[in-house]
Amino acid sequence: MDAREIESDLSEVLVTEAEIHEKLAELARRIEADYDDKDLLLVGVLKGAVMVMADLARELRSQVNMDWMAVSSYGVGTQSSGVVRILKDLDTDLTGRHVLIVEDIIDSGLTLSWLLGNLESRGAESVEICALLRKPDAAKVDVTVKYLGFDIPNQFVVGYGLDYAERYRNLRDVAVLSPHVYS
Ligand code: XMP
Ligand code: MG
Repeated sequence: MDAREIESDLSEVLVTEAEIHEKLAELARRIEADYDDKDLLLVGVLKGAVMVMADLARELRSQVNMDWMAVSSYGVGTQSSGVVRILKDLDTDLTGRHVLIVEDIIDSGLTLSWLLGNLESRGAESVEICALLRKPDAAKVDVTVKYLGFDIPNQFVVGYGLDYAERYRNLRDVAVLSPHVYS
């Protein structure tokens, strides 16, 4: 697929690379202040959160640890069911740790709500969430996001780690995928 073909699959850029970096810098300053005297463990959710994790972690001037989890929701098609399976678990013991989950996007909230409960049950001292994007109109459960990038409309988006069928993850902006691609 060349650049022109990719562009024809996208209907609109929602959040630009510059806006993302400005926002992550802002969030990083808050995180540094909030975890001033604490050791922080960033937990990235594979694969979508790879870009957010890489850029957020490099914005942080404080010492942090990074670990990764891969989860998959059992569900039909693009709908999350809330039943989550761990595909790759953390290497880190969470006992007494301050954990910040780093996510790309909150849609129904079901995945994160499950993950939050799962990590809390491992004896972490605190578990908070940082998510780049949230679709408020798609929420099925309430999830408290301490560090949020942007609220976006209820449309399927790709880029900056987000994929459709494993494509478009490497795009620098977040863009709306044209319905002609998946319908
Ligand atoms: P829930 O519904 O549990 O789902 O909050 C969160 C996960 O679903 C994926 N997701 C998306 N992926 N564009 C994507 O590329 C989207 O618009 C989108 N909405 C949800 C994503 O993996 C997220 O972690
Ligand atoms: Mg994800």
